[in-house]
Amino acid sequence: KIKKIHAREILDSRGNPTVEVDVYTSNGFGRASVPSGASTGSNEALELRDKEERYLGKGVLDAVDNVNTAIEAELLGMDVRKQREIDGLMLALDGTENKMELGANAILGVSMAVARAAADSLNMPLYRYLGGINAFTLPVPTMNVLNGGKHAGNALSIQEFMIQPKGAETYSEALRMGTETYHALGKILEGKYGGSATNVGYEGGYAPSIEMTHDALDALVSAIEEAGYSETEISIGLDAAASEFFDGETYSIDGKLLKPGELVDYYLELIETYPIILIEDPFHEESFDDFAALTNDAWDTIIVGDDLFVTNVDRLVRGVEMGAANALLLKVNQIGSLSEAFDAANMANRNGYSVVVSHRSAETEDTTIADISVAIGADLIKTGAPARSERTAKYNQLLRIEEDLGEAARYMQI
Ligand code: PGA
Ligand code: ZN
Repeated sequence: KIKKIHAREILDSRGNPTVEVDVYTSNGFGRASVPSGASTGSNEALELRDKEERYLGKGVLDAVDNVNTAIEAELLGMDVRKQREIDGLMLALDGTENKMELGANAILGVSMAVARAAADSLNMPLYRYLGGINAFTLPVPTMNVLNGGKHAGNALSIQEFMIQPKGAETYSEALRMGTETYHALGKILEGKYGGSATNVGYEGGYAPSIEMTHDALDALVSAIEEAGYSETEISIGLDAAASEFFDGETYSIDGKLLKPGELVDYYLELIETYPIILIEDPFHEESFDDFAALTNDAWDTIIVGDDLFVTNVDRLVRGVEMGAANALLLKVNQIGSLSEAFDAANMANRNGYSVVVSHRSAETEDTTIADISVAIGADLIKTGAPARSERTAKYNQLLRIEEDLGEAARYMQI
């Protein structure tokens, strides 16, 4: 039974305030904190910010207050294992479509801390509490080793250049292979562009001052080779986050202005030239039809909907009907509760869509998404470069889960 809920304002990895929640039961405790995006989709649940002078308008004391008053009052005495009921009560209390009343950051913080308190009171690791006996597969990490777009100060249109060590036998081997490649990339960039090229962006990937997509991709290919791996062992993925370079008519990339149809061809050429197996948000967030066109043409590429779906079942259903994308990016704070995020994952699974569990560009030391990725048997997890503690916290938690599973652990095949 929930005895006490207490929220506080803490800092995220960008130095902005965010919500942390503690949930106490008679024999358990759970703590969770909430991430935040920079290239956010306009259909995401609302992140409540105070808009006062403190912290440049980014304070979250209203959201904290909502937890400590209205939400606590509603949930006191509830059985902490009744996750779905608890999430439902908070949604009803909020009463809005996008959680603008209480704030998705308030609701999600409680939702995740409740799950942790339940796992703790049952003396279970979180991944097993959430996933039961079916939770034994470690996802393939898709590691963002080179940052562009809104996540870096350079002129690359594409936001994320990722690598997937999919040829590994185990998750820990995958983490090592990816990390070795990250360091090889650092050396290559430093040699070619100078010392400042290894400064990093929001997600720990290098942020060299290069402009052309193919220069970034060439560096990745060299790094994979230099680290001693083949293109079947380590592949490449992109998150274009294309809403950020779309002006309403054309996409501005590599010094050119491309119409949607031309951008389809542009991606098809990239896929042919480089070992690219995944492209996220190739078009802006409302272009279901362009997503469908590329999904159709690039039939064996993982096309991921992030800002397109915003972890929202209704938008995912629309995508399924139109054949837009074939994978869901799962970000818990886009939708704002654990139950709804699981609903989106289930809907994806039922329709043959892959699931990529994801962090945000501003994170905390919270590792809940690592446990979620194993609990739902996600194909991939995207949680940045293998550097910066808010990123490695998740990769390291997966090492612990793999260790805990022992012989039973499997590494996802994609
Ligand atoms: P965001 O970016 O967290 O800044 O929204 C992550 C992504 O686009 O996948
Ligand atoms: Zn994205």
